[in-house]
Amino acid sequence: MEQRAWWKESVVYQIYPRSFCDSNGDGIGDLPGILSKLDYLHDLGVNVIWLSPVYRSPNDDNGYDISDYQDIMAEFGTMADFDAVLEGLHARGMKLVMDLVVNHTSDEHAWFVESRASKDSAKRDWYIWRPAKDGGVPNNWGSSFSGSAWEWDETTGEYYLHCFSRKQPDLNWDNPAVRGAVFDMMDWWCRKGVDGFRMDVISMISKPEGLPDTPMRPGQLYGDVMAPGGTCNGPHVHDYLKEMNRRVLSRYDLLTVGETAGVTVEEAQRYANAEGTELGMVFQFEHVGLDCGPGGKWTAGQFSLPALKENLAKWQYELEGKAWNSLFFCNHDQPRVASRWGDGSPAGAKCLATALHLMRGTPYVYQGEELGMTNCPFGPIENYRDIESLNAFRELTGAGRDPEELLSVIAQKSRDNARTPVQWDDGPNAGFTTGEPWIMVNPNYKTLNAAAEERDPDSVLNWFKALIRLRRESEWRDAVVYNSFRLLDPEHEQVFAYLRPGEETTLLVVCNLSAEKCVWTLPEDLPLDGAKLLLCSGPEPKAEGGALALAPWQAAVWAR
Ligand code: GLC
Ligand code: CA
Repeated sequence: MEQRAWWKESVVYQIYPRSFCDSNGDGIGDLPGILSKLDYLHDLGVNVIWLSPVYRSPNDDNGYDISDYQDIMAEFGTMADFDAVLEGLHARGMKLVMDLVVNHTSDEHAWFVESRASKDSAKRDWYIWRPAKDGGVPNNWGSSFSGSAWEWDETTGEYYLHCFSRKQPDLNWDNPAVRGAVFDMMDWWCRKGVDGFRMDVISMISKPEGLPDTPMRPGQLYGDVMAPGGTCNGPHVHDYLKEMNRRVLSRYDLLTVGETAGVTVEEAQRYANAEGTELGMVFQFEHVGLDCGPGGKWTAGQFSLPALKENLAKWQYELEGKAWNSLFFCNHDQPRVASRWGDGSPAGAKCLATALHLMRGTPYVYQGEELGMTNCPFGPIENYRDIESLNAFRELTGAGRDPEELLSVIAQKSRDNARTPVQWDDGPNAGFTTGEPWIMVNPNYKTLNAAAEERDPDSVLNWFKALIRLRRESEWRDAVVYNSFRLLDPEHEQVFAYLRPGEETTLLVVCNLSAEKCVWTLPEDLPLDGAKLLLCSGPEPKAEGGALALAPWQAAVWAR
């Protein structure tokens, strides 16, 4: 019997503060902006907010480069503004999860400033410094944001490691003083009353012994640090997380989710083990890698529904009873799913949400996903803001890649697709700001916006509310959260259908994830007679002789 927990019964909503709501007209979303939308979030039905980083930061990577873990980014407001958001959430019975970015700091963090000052600095060993090797970099590792993962530092004549930008030096977790400082900081936030942590690239904190070269993918210029034997799931990562659990996490009642790049099911069973000695759950990335080409993120690939189903089902089966799943299609690093695997239509967005939300695990909604927000027609590279996209464009075109072709892949994959302002209404700048937004607003805001969707009973927003209510408030809630999972018809090219079998109730979820109508055959042992239709987009599909006629992008859910 699965052990009950509040975070297994929750729906999490991710806020990327820079793009959520701007209160003072400087074009940048902020904490007072978030405060003004708490009723909207409460009304949506989500009960946990995960805030992307709001700490002090020079914003080389929009806050994922932190220069003070115990202060608030000036553009987002003050600690008093943060406290007001925390209080406002708690007053509504909601919870707040912080983004914990501790694989690296900003190069402007006091720890790094001290570390870089001299080889004898007390904090020298808080980061990963190496002398030149044969007059060059210590190994072949590439940064996730292009270029080498090593930066030469003139002051002391050594290289430091940065798996992300050169302004994000990696902390040395093998040093107990680093771990102690991180745990103290976490404890400080817990005592302030936060309800959990989403842990940024936490699978990367333990670097492999001797920092060996890693294999290069076709067409790449550097070794892939995400490959097995690289920085993911390193030799001591589970020891460090157990230590974190003992010293901090186990002393509070928290939601914890690790962003675990490179995680396999076997590793996930350890990170999110049911005994609770490490984390509550992890984000895995296999399913969002399926439509990448052989050369990785910046090469075009093909989407295949059977491959997606097979992968998601594998995680459902392999974690059951051993670890808890997180369910997500979108976050601030992924393109918009409504465009990625849908056709940009509201019907597609609803259908994808249904397929995702009724699996076993804790669902995550990324801001704007509940509106069916789409990828943005950015056009030229000048309209992009993301360091990853901009660096990739510069590096790969520099190495001879055709700019037009690359731009078409960037248009599909860039993280900026997720970072355009939330579309609140059809007024100037979609109601996001009265000033000049820091990144372009998706021009479809005139028709696709929260205000219009509030009024429309058939909107994506109202569909999300119904899905969330089914999981959190309905008589079927236990079945949605705790029942088992069984994939139906794995090879079907259009339909994603599954059962959630339980002792008393079984749910049937059927989603036609395609723009063509289709006929889907019900499993023989599962006639719909006597089943109750819980949710259905479009007119109720009738079962005739064991076959269901489904409209394009139609989703339906039954219980019996
Ligand atoms: C994680 C974050 C991403 C960030 C990176 C470096 O993958 O989700 O936005 O750029 O880590 O912190
Ligand atoms: Ca602002």
